[in-house]
Amino acid sequence: MKALITGGAGFIGINTADYLLREGHEVVIVDNLSRHGSEANLIWLRERYPDVLFERQDIREFEGLKAAFAKHQPYDTLFHFAAQVAVTTSVESPRMDFETNALGTLNVLEAVRELGLDPVLLYTSTNKVYGALSELGVIEEENRYRYTDLDQGIPEGTTLDFYSPYGCSKGAADQYVRDYHRMYGLRTIVFRNSCIYGPRQFGIEDQGWLAWFVIAAVLQRPITIYGDGKQVRDVLYIDDLIDAMLAAVERSNDTQGEIYNIGGGRQFSLSVWREFGPMLSELLGQEIKVDYGAWRPGDQKIYVSDISKAYRDFGWEPSITPEEGVERLVRWVQENRELFP
Ligand SMILES: NC(=O)c1ccc[n+]([C@@H]2O[C@H](COP(=O)([O-])OP(=O)(O)OC[C@H]3O[C@@H](n4cnc5c(N)ncnc54)[C@H](O)[C@@H]3O)[C@@H](O)[C@H]2O)c1
Repeated sequence: MKALITGGAGFIGINTADYLLREGHEVVIVDNLSRHGSEANLIWLRERYPDVLFERQDIREFEGLKAAFAKHQPYDTLFHFAAQVAVTTSVESPRMDFETNALGTLNVLEAVRELGLDPVLLYTSTNKVYGALSELGVIEEENRYRYTDLDQGIPEGTTLDFYSPYGCSKGAADQYVRDYHRMYGLRTIVFRNSCIYGPRQFGIEDQGWLAWFVIAAVLQRPITIYGDGKQVRDVLYIDDLIDAMLAAVERSNDTQGEIYNIGGGRQFSLSVWREFGPMLSELLGQEIKVDYGAWRPGDQKIYVSDISKAYRDFGWEPSITPEEGVERLVRWVQENRELFP
């Protein structure tokens, strides 16, 4: 396979590139290295695979992007990961967020269309397109929230309700990616990801909460829990996401034009501090002190993906338990403290 990966130096991108290169595939990374940690990720990858192709390019600049796409064609798979990823940043800079996520994605689609390329194009959207989901019945238990009626979690047919500039820009891109299949026959697939975590993730308080808690706990930095810590999220280890993406790409005859909710599902869900805190504390062999702050706008009490469509269409389900995945992440942070000055 020859794959082009936008945002290929970020967390999901670098792990995907590493996996593909290890398997003997060819990889082209397109990234503007704007995210803290991306440069370190690229250096790490280039040490392992000096032949990896890299284009420093901003997806907001159409002509440059098109030229980069043209230079390395043909490729059979295009992973479009490049994005502005923090809700908080989107609230501060909605135009930059829009230009990166919505316009940047349109640029990717238009470059593919104008150049007449025909890769399978997989876009990583987000569960934020479903909004706060405040109308759903939720039961409060001792250490977590639970849906009253939705045992399997949130399915793809749930009403779209873009919330926050990030939700709007990612949601617009999600719909464009899908529509370019209907209108222009591009072989696109949309993944609406829940919380993905793993090594080489430079989580910060505003994005990548699980990695942030691990980094902060290992480096003994202050941690604030917004809300009561009983909020539930389904969590998916990066290797499981890569398996899902490759399975969906391989079955593109069935999956093109489709949208999938992807996450740990009901089986791999955690409350963000009441359950995750003790797990992390045990792994580190230390007590972790935290402060509590007010709920943040749009914060869902519970979000769990219904991942049954992915299982039906391409036989995927996650296999790495949160205990196992978090342990691997802890080990990576402990062995790479110098990456977090
Ligand atoms: N990690 C998660 O839990 C999660 C959940 C839902 C959706 N997603 C989506 O998955 C994708 C990848 O997320 P990630 O966690 O790897 O994020 P990341 O921030 O680690 O990676 C994004 C990469 O895109 C690059 N980038 C940003 N703006 C760019 C631009 N204008 N031009 C070119 N490159 C640019 C950054 O430098 C970075 O390397 C994003 O689209 C994100 O919205 C991630």
